[in-house]
Amino acid sequence: MTVKLSMTQEEEKRAVFLDRSAPLLCPSILSSDLADLAASVRGLEGQLDMVHCDVMDGHYVPNLTFGPPVIRALAKHTDKPLDVHLMVTNPDELLNLYAEAGATTLVVHVEAVRHAQRTLARIRELGCFAGLSLNPGTPLESVKWLLPDLDMILLMSVNPGFGGQSFIPQVMDKIREARRMIEASGYPVRLQVDGGVDPENAQDLVRAGADMLVAGSAIFGSPSPKDAARELRRLIRQARLQL
Ligand code: DX5
Ligand code: ZN
Repeated sequence: MTVKLSMTQEEEKRAVFLDRSAPLLCPSILSSDLADLAASVRGLEGQLDMVHCDVMDGHYVPNLTFGPPVIRALAKHTDKPLDVHLMVTNPDELLNLYAEAGATTLVVHVEAVRHAQRTLARIRELGCFAGLSLNPGTPLESVKWLLPDLDMILLMSVNPGFGGQSFIPQVMDKIREARRMIEASGYPVRLQVDGGVDPENAQDLVRAGADMLVAGSAIFGSPSPKDAARELRRLIRQARLQL
């Protein structure tokens, strides 16, 4: 007799993040219809891996978006894991609320936290994957000694705060260097790129070593977000197979 063990929804979400067989496409809802988030995400059906949620506080970045209540509401409308990018000055104070709201990953900015190692440990304690984000000018050296405490590094390829900006070209070399650093460490850290990702640069980003790509305007600014997501996903999977 075989016993079928079914994964809980939470385990399924974690399995998406842990599956290294293909790069993950993380559409950023920042560029979607924020008044109808459930429909925005539903519209991408089958063409996304994680939902990237940009939390902005009007202090760390010059823009304000949403917080735990909106994330909690969205979580009820999708079975996809939520990738929560905190662009806030005081992430430590609300980590538990984001975890309870349904975040699968919680990413804080290394420039915004006072004791990054403590924050990362807390995120893991809360049952989320811990990510650290670096602005374009922030050196990789700032995460080098934190690799054992990390599940992902997010390299910003624009200055955080707004969707629709152009990719800063020198980040391509930073991705290569980050990938080398991760491989040399032996820790299973994912490498995400966020900002100005489009069909023109997506394959180069994967070749450089990125394995999670965020895309906002390239998807939601398109006449057919679902087709745009399908094409981006096809491109990044193809690039990975050719590595
Ligand atoms: C920028 C945000 C990004 C943004 C990306 O501060 O972190 O996630 O939504 O948008 P695009 O893909 O339009 O550059
Ligand atoms: Zn983001």
